[in-house]
Amino acid sequence: MSIVCVEDYEPLARERLPAAVWDYIEGGAGAELTLHANREAFDRISIRPRVLVDVSRCDTATTVLGSPLRSPVIVAPTAFHGQVHDDAEPATARGTAAAGSLFVVSTMSSRPLADIAAAAAGPLWFQLYLLRDRGVVVDMVTRADAAGFSGLVLTVDTPRLGRRLRDERNSYVVNAGASPANVRAGLPVSLHERQEGISGLAATARDIFDQTLTWADLAWLRELTDMPLLLKGIVTAPDAALAVEHGVDGIIVSNHGGRQLDGGIASLRALPDVVGAVAGRCPVLVDGGVRRGRDVFIALALGADAVLVGRPVLWGLAVGGADGVEHVLSMLTDDLEHTMALAGRPSVADIGRDAVD
Ligand code: GLV
Repeated sequence: MSIVCVEDYEPLARERLPAAVWDYIEGGAGAELTLHANREAFDRISIRPRVLVDVSRCDTATTVLGSPLRSPVIVAPTAFHGQVHDDAEPATARGTAAAGSLFVVSTMSSRPLADIAAAAAGPLWFQLYLLRDRGVVVDMVTRADAAGFSGLVLTVDTPRLGRRLRDERNSYVVNAGASPANVRAGLPVSLHERQEGISGLAATARDIFDQTLTWADLAWLRELTDMPLLLKGIVTAPDAALAVEHGVDGIIVSNHGGRQLDGGIASLRALPDVVGAVAGRCPVLVDGGVRRGRDVFIALALGADAVLVGRPVLWGLAVGGADGVEHVLSMLTDDLEHTMALAGRPSVADIGRDAVD
């Protein structure tokens, strides 16, 4: 059967991956309420199409923090691509660049930042978990800078990992070949050594993530690098206002793909409040549940400058390596272009608040 949309990759990826890896990727926290709410929020919105508009040339192109992109779809940070494909993050980087997109590389990437950068012909941002060992943080940020990364994305919704019950049931651990290549010092054995009923990743995060992280730490990060700083995991207007007051360069509205606070608000529902509080002072991006061109369109109409996609990229990587990643991203861009044509909004700038209901 032909693959004609992003979701066609999902069952194919599932066939290829070990069950525990599949559960790690696909699962959310707790009862997975937020995981499902993310998707449902998109399905509840309707588009208001305009007619008799020349749509012979619809243009999905945009620019985010200085990076020109083929469309407002970028690759979300996700951990351990070495679990998904032997070529790991360098393959994701190749596929992303071929699709004219931007790759946000996770702190938990399976390959060194320099190797990923060497494979990438397009822009890269580095996603940071603030670790207790600040020496490791300095080392990683310095190496991201040296490798030419052009953005630093601090995750702010993960003082510890959410309770992902699938991972606890599977006593999930990360195989040694997929180990985080950039967290060089002192990874606890819990990441790799199976303990009954415990997620090895959650145990590791408890050990190494800095749960004392507050707004006051942003100044320290700023001193480390000139890369633009984005915060990922903001879902309220007061936090968006604080982020702007602290001079961040961008905000990613996110609930971590429903993997952190179960019962937390769907990203799309949180977006308008954040956009309102930011009032154009920095770009606002959103992730969580984007699967179709219409989802991208809806996010833009509600004020996002771009969206990030996580799981679909991993499905593409599992099935087709770099080509699979490229295909997933290109299908999303093509589907956005198609939606724009049928909705009578031929450019990204035409997708305003009046385009949805
Ligand atoms: C890691 O970042 C995860 O969300 O599993």
